[in-house]
Amino acid sequence: MTMPIPKRAIGLGVGLALAAVALWAVFGPISRNSSDPDRFRSPAGEVAPSPQRPGDPEAGYAALINQPYVSCGMPYAAYRRVAPETNPDLLIPGREGRNAELPYFLTAHVNADGVEIVSNNCLVCHAARLGDEIVIGLGDAFADFTGDPRQLVTQVGRFVQTEAESAAWTHWADRIERIAPYIQTRTLGMNPATNLSWALMAHRDPRTMAWSQTPLIDPPPHDPVPLRTPPWWWMGKKNAMFYTTIGRGDHSRYMLFASLLCADSVAELEEIDQFAPDIRAYLESLGPPAFPAEIDDALAAEGNRLFARHCAACHGTYGDEPRFPNRVIALDDIGTDPLYARSMTDGSLDRFFAWVDRSPHGGTVRAAPAEGYIAPPLDGIWAVAPYFHNGSVPSLEAVLDSSLRPEFWRHVTPRAYDFTALGWQFPALPFGKEGAATAAERAAIYDTTVPGYGKAGHLYSDGLTEAERAALLEYLKTL
Ligand code: HEC
Ligand code: HEC
Repeated sequence: MTMPIPKRAIGLGVGLALAAVALWAVFGPISRNSSDPDRFRSPAGEVAPSPQRPGDPEAGYAALINQPYVSCGMPYAAYRRVAPETNPDLLIPGREGRNAELPYFLTAHVNADGVEIVSNNCLVCHAARLGDEIVIGLGDAFADFTGDPRQLVTQVGRFVQTEAESAAWTHWADRIERIAPYIQTRTLGMNPATNLSWALMAHRDPRTMAWSQTPLIDPPPHDPVPLRTPPWWWMGKKNAMFYTTIGRGDHSRYMLFASLLCADSVAELEEIDQFAPDIRAYLESLGPPAFPAEIDDALAAEGNRLFARHCAACHGTYGDEPRFPNRVIALDDIGTDPLYARSMTDGSLDRFFAWVDRSPHGGTVRAAPAEGYIAPPLDGIWAVAPYFHNGSVPSLEAVLDSSLRPEFWRHVTPRAYDFTALGWQFPALPFGKEGAATAAERAAIYDTTVPGYGKAGHLYSDGLTEAERAALLEYLKTL
């Protein structure tokens, strides 16, 4: 009953492209005045809200799991030769027609030539197993983007039969072929979505959305900056999307751009824009999963007092009258790995920001990254390990005490939760990737000495006593 190819192999191919698109949307313009040198930058500090179009969360869930917002992919018949059965653990409720029998991260539709197509949807990165459940909105900390997505393309290609299937396969294969060099990460669980978006922009005319086999502007660097996929349930509090708060303006339009992998016309983008506000409304209606074990209430209450004193100014308050300050902390202060925020603000990506400026929705989304990171809401923080934007710290215990952060650590499958340190069981290692015997073992090892993967910074609780940190840890379970 299990699929003969790992879920992640498929995620690798189509899924990435989709994410790229969603992320790409982030980069809306700040202003159309291209002579303004600061138009792609934001200051650190408070992020102001921007108006959002209203939507219906229920319709948004249905659209998220049924609509073909990524319109190219594998011919269904060929996909079924590669993956004859669906593991029942991968089914989720609410899916219609063919989708009801597909894994949650794939969506089917019939294309203009009458070929049934399956494509990755947002959930390839934004859903994950937690206990017995697939939790929608939880970033997949075990998604594997370390391989070459072209392998799946070739595998599926062998089973393509009709001329119409062949045309559909080629449409998809061309895109994967062009973006593959930019979306392979070094480490399991790390997500290349941002780099994917740059790669797609390099191949599309921003005004017409027409695809070009050769890049129209310089492509991004090959090595993606590693990212831990954030949970969707934070979006109800956040005034901007993404770790650097680059995504401002109409958030639903960013999601609309999820079609960038395949949408070859402005008309297709506009069609998707019809349900984009509903998807946004659904995302913002989500709450975090509850901590699944006992909590020591007295200790948590002590932690609450410490949190108010040492943490709330940046991370907000929780409970009956929550308040979230939406603050970006400059790199100098936060001290976590600077590569991601620097790469956004050093001018090296401005050609992509300019691309978005010229795109159909350039007037309604603003791209304005800050040279720092948002202090995120901590709702459901127990479930989103590994920690920080680059997933460099395996547990909450090690977030609170920097002396406990391992230089090298690794993924273990099957995943198991560590109820003491709070995070997945990611054991520390005395060596890095050079100590691994196989490619799979190499991919499972997180090496914090590589630029972009650093574990430094956020030392705000290092000065507390061990007992105080234990109380804080207990309080974090309640969020
Ligand atoms: C290939 C993986 C991937 C896919 C597919 C993907 N995303 Fe994402 N998404 C990410 C990553 C990684 C981030 C974090 C990027 C950052 O903050 O810079 C992110 C961030 C987001 C955020 C912002 C969250 C926050 O707290 O700032 C939203 C909202 C979002 N994605 C929605 C979507 C939607 C809707 C889709 C489908 C239409 C989608 N994503 C598809 C990987 C993906
Ligand atoms: C000066 C502002 C500031 C203070 C004070 C602060 N934090 Fe943070 N915190 C941040 C920022 C910014 C990040 C994101 C860093 C990154 O992703 O690189 C963060 C990240 C975190 C994370 C990881 C979130 C994730 O996405 O994985 C946790 C957990 C956390 N903080 C807990 C605390 C606790 C507990 C305290 C109090 C002892 C505290 N913080 C104090 C700014 C702050």
